Amino acid sequence: MRTYYIAGNWKMHMTIPEARSLAKELAGELKGCRHKIMIAPPFTALAAVAEICKKSGILLGAQNMCTEESGAHTGEISVLMLKDLGVDVVILGHSERRHVYGEKDSDINKKVLLALKHGLDVILCVGETLEEREAGKALEISRNQLISGLAGVSEKAMKSVTIAYEPVWAIGTGKTATPEDANEVHADIRACLKDLYSESLAASVTIQYGGSVKPSNARGLMEMEHLDGALVGGASLKAETFVPIALFDA
Ligand code: PGA
Repeated sequence: MRTYYIAGNWKMHMTIPEARSLAKELAGELKGCRHKIMIAPPFTALAAVAEICKKSGILLGAQNMCTEESGAHTGEISVLMLKDLGVDVVILGHSERRHVYGEKDSDINKKVLLALKHGLDVILCVGETLEEREAGKALEISRNQLISGLAGVSEKAMKSVTIAYEPVWAIGTGKTATPEDANEVHADIRACLKDLYSESLAASVTIQYGGSVKPSNARGLMEMEHLDGALVGGASLKAETFVPIALFDA
């Protein structure tokens, strides 16, 4: 039986009371769940959810952080502040950060290195736009984002890194990559990790799929050889849709 890593990215949703209530519901319903589970509330709700996560074994994630540790960066959140709140994991390079807020590969790489330096686990997101897919560049784009994002990350530090393949055209659109299409990119990401590090490292890295994952398609995706988990957006906002994904049994 495989163990999967299922993460919920709540994006810019949930007031503090809503976040607390959903986290409590998840903690109750996911008791005994054998998969690794993470939830990433907005920054404002991290403190409220931290206690609930600690007691339940659900990992606490942040959705982003600054490239710098401290200083004159109005509106940014430092890795030290995330550590302060008990955050375990940070999602970096999400396509909304790349495409809506203009984050570059070099920014993302800086964040990856800083998070790892401070002992945070990282979920590094990669994935192509529809235009890039249609131009036959899906593998190339994910590879390039992977190589730039991981520049300077040692094989030892890779123990703390998860990769999330999230085709931009499948995020929040209801369109999911077919399990076969997703698996092809995941296999290529693994091959790239082998080139960058070693065969054993490549085999051990968790590669999540993200993009309109829901209870009805989770099984088909998770059954694929190179899919080790899911980064769930919309369906992570309600226990009734996140719990069946998190309790998936292969
Ligand atoms: P979605 O989002 O599940 O709503 O498509 C996934 C993500 O952006 O991480």
